[in-house]
Amino acid sequence: MTAIDMSEVAGRVLIDEAREAARHAYAPYSRFAVGAALLLADGSVVRGANFENASHGLSLCAETVALAAANTAGRLRDVVAIGVVGGAMAAGGGIEGDAPVRPCGRCRQMLSEAAQAGGRDIVVHCASADGGVVERHMLSHLLPLAFGPADLGLH
Ligand code: THU
Repeated sequence: MTAIDMSEVAGRVLIDEAREAARHAYAPYSRFAVGAALLLADGSVVRGANFENASHGLSLCAETVALAAANTAGRLRDVVAIGVVGGAMAAGGGIEGDAPVRPCGRCRQMLSEAAQAGGRDIVVHCASADGGVVERHMLSHLLPLAFGPADLGLH
């Protein structure tokens, strides 16, 4: 009998979805495109791409855009996993780079809100531009001892 690692299978799907999302990145300033794909508890997927601004500090990361879309659909509490892919925009289209993209600190905190609201840890699949290099982390490992609703007396 062959054992299939369902989390790894889900990660592959999420990375493919995130690569599709990265095609819609609006990143004329950094020229670094990022895509994110959230897996919800019912198997549906919500995508996001980074969305930059001429006032650079206003730029939104792909993960945050995806989380806002999930929230808009009333599904913030249903996030079980995320795939993230990114790389430098190549001259002929597409993205390149060998390093897996790990969520920035702000995105880890945003993901933590979804995790705590949903009462679960979130699996974070991080991939390089072509999906060749993949890491799998738990959000609680990427952001230990996170500040959250409980610190404000909310449960
Ligand atoms: N970026 C993301 O979208 N997610 C991350 O986790 C890291 C960084 C974006 C922000 C900015 O548009 C570009 O990548 C370069 O920092």
